Amino acid sequence: MSIPQYFELEGGDRMPRIGFGTWQASDEVLEQAVEAALAAGYRHFDSARAYENEAALGRALNRWIGNDPAKRKELFVVTKLPPGGNRPEHVQEYFDNSLKDLNLEYLDLYLIHTPFAFDHVPGDLHPKNPDGSMRMDHSTNLLELWKAVLKLKESGRVRHVGVSNLNEEQLARVCSVAKPACLQVELHVLCQQPSLVAAANKLGVPVVAYSPLGSKALADAKAAQTGQSYPDLLQLAEVQRIAQAHDRTPAQVLLRYNLQRGLASIPKSTNPARIKQNISVWDFNLSETEVSELAALDRGEKGRVCDFTFFVGADKHPEFPFKK
Ligand code: A2P
Repeated sequence: MSIPQYFELEGGDRMPRIGFGTWQASDEVLEQAVEAALAAGYRHFDSARAYENEAALGRALNRWIGNDPAKRKELFVVTKLPPGGNRPEHVQEYFDNSLKDLNLEYLDLYLIHTPFAFDHVPGDLHPKNPDGSMRMDHSTNLLELWKAVLKLKESGRVRHVGVSNLNEEQLARVCSVAKPACLQVELHVLCQQPSLVAAANKLGVPVVAYSPLGSKALADAKAAQTGQSYPDLLQLAEVQRIAQAHDRTPAQVLLRYNLQRGLASIPKSTNPARIKQNISVWDFNLSETEVSELAALDRGEKGRVCDFTFFVGADKHPEFPFKK
């Protein structure tokens, strides 16, 4: 089974189907990881204002680009509008700050990070009330926000715009204005979201999987918070058995499975050997039986790791995307 290495986007641009995730890495560690990723052949880098590491990513990318504009064109750089900027009048300011920190002339893709919004508090991307809950802004108008994000393209400083963490109904709604260049959501064997993926495919919206390896640190934090255990995807017996059969690692099986589902994935790693491993997923095939076995691991909503419970009060927002 031959799988295209890119999603073809408007204007002939191409988004690599294996990208490099950057959440939860400190600046120094991230810079080294990005260097290792570039050396391993990654060209798609996913970031977000909310990760507060755009400057470190920008430094590593700019060192690699040097004075060669052709090298910038090889890259596909993504960042996201944080929830605190989710109002039409704030989009430009947050976008400008991201571009400035990344120290780039243009972005390849800019995403609305979440459909829910926080208050705009300069200097604080995660504003909280005294009781620890988030300062939510319930006045969000998702379509007006989307129109403002679309408008960013007019400046030529962003080539594509898209969305993240939207549910099926929200995706259909934004598509009624204009099709996003992609939908980025959590996707892995325990949280496969078949209905959302089918809806995006039908609408012609490429889907990018975040936490494709199950984001162990986040899963552990969730388990500690809820008292419910959450399995390590890489340790699942089915995944391990299939990995052994192909002489591959469990991570490679999980990433290959996403590719065979027609998805892009943005795995995170700070370890050079694992960084290399995660992009070496083009030269083996999972059989139909193996695909069915992996499909059967889906736990639906229970399998979701990034359910935003760490943003206390987000679930009360009218655009909160997930079912309880
Ligand atoms: P590390 O940085 O030590 O490699 P996700 O992309 O789903 O958020 O998962 C990221 C987590 O998975 C990180 O803890 C990362 O740890 C780990 N990881 C990334 N690649 C691999 C791999 N090939 N094998 C095992 N663990 C991996």
